[in-house]
Amino acid sequence: MPVDGDLDLWRRAARISAEARELGARLVVPGASRRAVAEAIEESIRARGAEPAFPANLSRNQEAAHYTPSPDDDARFVAGDLVKVDVGAHIDGRIADTATTVEVGATHRYDHLIRAVQEAVRAGISRVHAGVPVEEISAAIEEAIHRRGVKPVANLTGHTIERYLLHAGTSIPNVRGGPDRTLQEGEIVAIEPFATNGAGAIENGPFGHIVRFRGAPTGELAPLFQRFRTLPFTARWVDDPATAAALRRHRRQLQTYPVFVESGGGYVAQAEHTVLVTPTGAEVLTEL
Ligand code: CO
Repeated sequence: MPVDGDLDLWRRAARISAEARELGARLVVPGASRRAVAEAIEESIRARGAEPAFPANLSRNQEAAHYTPSPDDDARFVAGDLVKVDVGAHIDGRIADTATTVEVGATHRYDHLIRAVQEAVRAGISRVHAGVPVEEISAAIEEAIHRRGVKPVANLTGHTIERYLLHAGTSIPNVRGGPDRTLQEGEIVAIEPFATNGAGAIENGPFGHIVRFRGAPTGELAPLFQRFRTLPFTARWVDDPATAAALRRHRRQLQTYPVFVESGGGYVAQAEHTVLVTPTGAEVLTEL
């Protein structure tokens, strides 16, 4: 739970992540290189004095989350792609996590999915205050998504955040039936609804390009652990060929994230803000 002087660092990391999210949303246009957009997002975070808290996620269409481009990704966005721009920044472990969804080329086929998550994130945030049951937030999100005639993704959740811990232990589900727990003053929470026109659940797809250390490594990977700690990272960020080779040799020390794909083949939209729980409500840290 952040203490006073600390809170400014959380706010600064959040503002930087929100600006990077908006930059990403502007860059996702027909013909844009997926890798170039991810790199531009991550560079904008570094240029402002923070570090990416995880690789820029640019999951498309039926992909719900955890797609980041590989070092040699040459895919380009096409009109009609439904892209989740999910970004995070951290300053010495104070993390913000935020996302928006863009329909590339303004083809307007998925406006209802995008509106569903925008309204759901607002509805969820409107319930936040110290002492609120998590279930009340989940119910507000679930209802807002159903109101648009689509389904919440039942097995993806918002989450509490702590220093260097992106998913700190408490989940905020997007449907009822989550943890029997209340939010506490000073907690940092990501409210993160996903909506779909598919089955309403995700499953593990192919392994992607996001990894994290399972524990603290010794030897040649120790310097990389000093840099990334327990936060997710990607091979695109490891420029030095010797270190890249060491990473491949020791891949058992890494957890590789699968891309999450919608079980029924539906398209998925996402909206996300990081908020601070206050006695009377939520301070939305990732709002510009
Ligand atoms: Co999140």
